[in-house]
Amino acid sequence: MSSQEPGHTGGERSAGGFPLEPIERASIDELRNLQLERLKWSLRHAWERVPHYRQRFEAAGVHPDELDQLDDLHRFPFTTKADLRQTYPFGMFAVPRDQVVRIHASSGTTGKPTVVGYTAKDIDTWAVLVARSIRASGARPGDLVHVSYGYGLFTGGLGAHYGAERLGLTVVPFGGGQTERQVQLMEDFRPDIVMITPSYMLAIADEFERLGLDPRNASMRIGIFGAEPWTNEMRGEIERRLSLDAVDIYGLSEVMGPGVANECIETKDGPTLWEDHFYPEIVDPETGAVLPDGEFGELVLTSLTKEALPVVRYRTRDLTRLLPGTARTMRRIEKITGRSDDMMIVRGVNVFPSQIEELILQRPNLAPHYQCELGRDGPLDTLLVRVELKAGEQHDSADRVGAAAALEHAIKAYIGVSAKVVVEGPGTIERSQGKARRVLDKRPKRS
Ligand code: DLL
Repeated sequence: MSSQEPGHTGGERSAGGFPLEPIERASIDELRNLQLERLKWSLRHAWERVPHYRQRFEAAGVHPDELDQLDDLHRFPFTTKADLRQTYPFGMFAVPRDQVVRIHASSGTTGKPTVVGYTAKDIDTWAVLVARSIRASGARPGDLVHVSYGYGLFTGGLGAHYGAERLGLTVVPFGGGQTERQVQLMEDFRPDIVMITPSYMLAIADEFERLGLDPRNASMRIGIFGAEPWTNEMRGEIERRLSLDAVDIYGLSEVMGPGVANECIETKDGPTLWEDHFYPEIVDPETGAVLPDGEFGELVLTSLTKEALPVVRYRTRDLTRLLPGTARTMRRIEKITGRSDDMMIVRGVNVFPSQIEELILQRPNLAPHYQCELGRDGPLDTLLVRVELKAGEQHDSADRVGAAAALEHAIKAYIGVSAKVVVEGPGTIERSQGKARRVLDKRPKRS
C-alpha cells in the first residue's frame, strides 16, 4: 500500500511526533490474521475458564473449535450486563482472584454494580491503549496532562492516568469536583492536555468566566473528551470557548475502560477502534442480526487479549456504525451520540437527548446546559426540555418566552415531537462533575 492510500496517511509518527506502533500501520490482512488468532485464544480462554460462558456456549450449541474465520463469531451467544449481574461479584473472572490486581465497578441505576477485574497484563494492555489514544489525540513529548475524570471505582481517572504516564507525560491526578480549584490549578500548572467529560468541561469554562478569566486564554491545547455522548455541535462549542482541539475517547468498563477507541486529531472523524484488542460487530438492536459495515445499529465488542474478564459479543447498547480506517488502518466508529437506554419514546416518536442538544447549540442565545424531563399527561408521555439563556443575554421574560417558542418549533420541525421548552436564567440547570444526567424520568410507574 502506498503512503497516499487511505489507511496510511499517518506515516511513521503521530501528529504530535511520537512514533506509532507497527500494528497501527499494519495492512488489513495482517490485522485480520492477528484478530483471528487472538479471537480463537479468547473464545477458548472464556470457555475453559468461565463456567458461565461454557454453559452459554453449550446452550447455543457452539464450541470454540468451530470458529474458523472471524465471521463465524456470529454463531456465539451475546453477553450482556445481566450476565455480569447474575454472576456478581467475581463469577465471570477467568483467572483465580489472587491473580486479579485491580477491580473497578460501575454503579448502575438499579441493583448491584457491575464488577470488572484486571490481571497485571490486562492493566499493562490498558495503559498501552490509553497511551496510544492520547498519542492519537495529538500529545507531544513533554506535555502536562490534567485528569478530571473521577478516580476510584470508575475507570475514567485511573485509566487515563496510567495511559498518560505510560506515554511519559506529566500527570496531574485531580479527579472530579472542586471546580474552582480545578480552574486555579489549570491557571497555575498550565496543562497542555485535559481529560474530562465534555459536560464538565463546559462547567469549568463557566467557572473560568465566573472568576473573571477568559477560558480562551487557558493553556490547554487538546481536550480528550468521553464517558458520555456528545455531538459534533458540542465539539464546536467547546473548541470555540476554550480554544483547543476536542477529540473523542470511547470505552466502557465491561470491555476495559477508556481507550477502547479514540479519535485521531488529524481527521477528527470518529474514534478509531483499537481492533488489535477488540473485535467489533454492529447488530440490529431488535433482532441481534449482524449488519454490514456502514449500517447503523448496536455496537457489540469481543475482547481479544483480556485475561481476567474476557467478554464475548458484549452488547454495549451504544448506537453507531463501523467506518473504514482513515488516519490508521483500523476501522472507526461513528461518533456515538446515543445509547439505546437513553432513547425517549414520546408519543411514539423515538428521541435521543443528542438530537435536542444539536438544536440547542444552533441557537446563539442558549447555553449548552440542558435536561430532558419525561412526564405523563393521562395516557400520553410528555417531554419538558429545560435549558438556559447564555450569560450576558437579555433576561426579561419576553426574551425567554421567545427563545422557548423558537426551540419548541425547531424540535417539532426537526425531530417531530411536541415538547414544552422552559428557558431559565444562567446557572440554573444542574451542572455535572462527571457524566451529565440528561434525562429525568418523572413518569409515574405503571401498575
Ligand atoms: O465511561 C469509560 C470512559 C471513561 C470512557 C472516560 C471515556 C472516558 P462506563 O462508566 O462503563 O465507562 O460507561 C460506558 O459510557 O457504553 C457509552 O454509553 C458511554 N460513553 C463512553 N465514552 C463515550 C463517548 C466509561 N466517547 C458508557 N461517546 C458507554 C459517547 C460514551 N458515549
